[in-house]
Amino acid sequence: MNDENFEPRILVFCCNWCSYAGADLAGVSRLQMPSNFRIVRVMCSGRVEPEFVMRALRNGFDGVLILACHIGDCHYIAGNHRTAKRIPLLRKLLDHVGIDSKRVMLDYVSAAEGEKFKTVISGFIDDVRQIGPIRTGLKWGA
Ligand code: FES
Repeated sequence: MNDENFEPRILVFCCNWCSYAGADLAGVSRLQMPSNFRIVRVMCSGRVEPEFVMRALRNGFDGVLILACHIGDCHYIAGNHRTAKRIPLLRKLLDHVGIDSKRVMLDYVSAAEGEKFKTVISGFIDDVRQIGPIRTGLKWGA
């Protein structure tokens, strides 16, 4: 496939209590969205280990989006605070190893924000499309 026809493959981690419900709302509201993303539901964004993101990129996803409850709304009190600290560090690491850190993004979507879910997903997919397919040339792990 040449880069003109490139459609990124996107993995989205959604926390169960807010952002997954926001995704569900976008779906039941029949909002038009791209189809090139897949959702993994986790109980809390704090459950998303940096290793999960690295594995997704290594296994062919061009971008990874982590969606969390808004700060102050995490059902486990501080899970999204942890995520908000982790993701910038992970992005620094990605830049360090030559992977554009814009391939990984954290945002916040509540259960009532179906429209925002659509906007965030669409914007992220557009951003990753601009970056192009992932070609690290690196061998990670075995
Ligand atoms: Fe949503 Fe923790 S439960 S970020």
